[in-house]
Amino acid sequence: MNQQELKQAVAQAAVDYILPKLESDTILGIGTGSTAALFIDALAGHKGLFQGAVSSSEASARQLEGYGIPVYDLNEVDRLLVYVDGADEANARLQLIKGGGAALTREKIVTACADEFVCIADESKWVPVLGKFPLPVEVIPMARSFVARELVKMGGSPEHRHGCTTDNGNHILDVHGLEIHQPAELESAINQIPGVVTNGLFALRPADVLLLGTNDGVKTLYPHS
Ligand code: A5P
Repeated sequence: MNQQELKQAVAQAAVDYILPKLESDTILGIGTGSTAALFIDALAGHKGLFQGAVSSSEASARQLEGYGIPVYDLNEVDRLLVYVDGADEANARLQLIKGGGAALTREKIVTACADEFVCIADESKWVPVLGKFPLPVEVIPMARSFVARELVKMGGSPEHRHGCTTDNGNHILDVHGLEIHQPAELESAINQIPGVVTNGLFALRPADVLLLGTNDGVKTLYPHS
């Protein structure tokens, strides 16, 4: 199977995973990116079985609304049963790098509100050590150069993602050259730099389950300690 077929398989697996949990008042958290978009496509046929969704980006919100699925502001919602989203990298602890689509801050907020985080990814995202994929860091525009200098001190090579403004009006630095052996510590340390909104490490709150699309079928993986 090619990468697109693997993504389609995990998108369908995620629908199958959540279907038994849905109730008429369920509100789902839904992520961003090409895998999440395929999940929305697969979910659309079941839209009568739940109340609606909170989305981590304007793009996903538009897609959901196109299918007639109600999209709620997170401030209107007490509880999200589950958050389903892709990743750029995942390790055996289900710690992730996310933010290739620049939606990392909203993704982190919606993840924090969800009882369960279901990550969906094809096997190209599975890595022994995080960091080959450049780590996205969302920054307040006026702090961009300062934050970049601080990231260099931490051993990274930050690169301004030109032409990219996040849904929150901020900029992205993509940090190359990191080999991340202590993801939770690095996530905290980067978030301490003034001007950083958040970074794309999802280690303090990793995924609870990873549906990984492989040529041997979709594997359901739980965190290894
Ligand atoms: C969006 O900001 C990202 O976190 C995505 O979840 C991630 O980039 C995965 O994207 P794909 O599903 O397109 O590979």
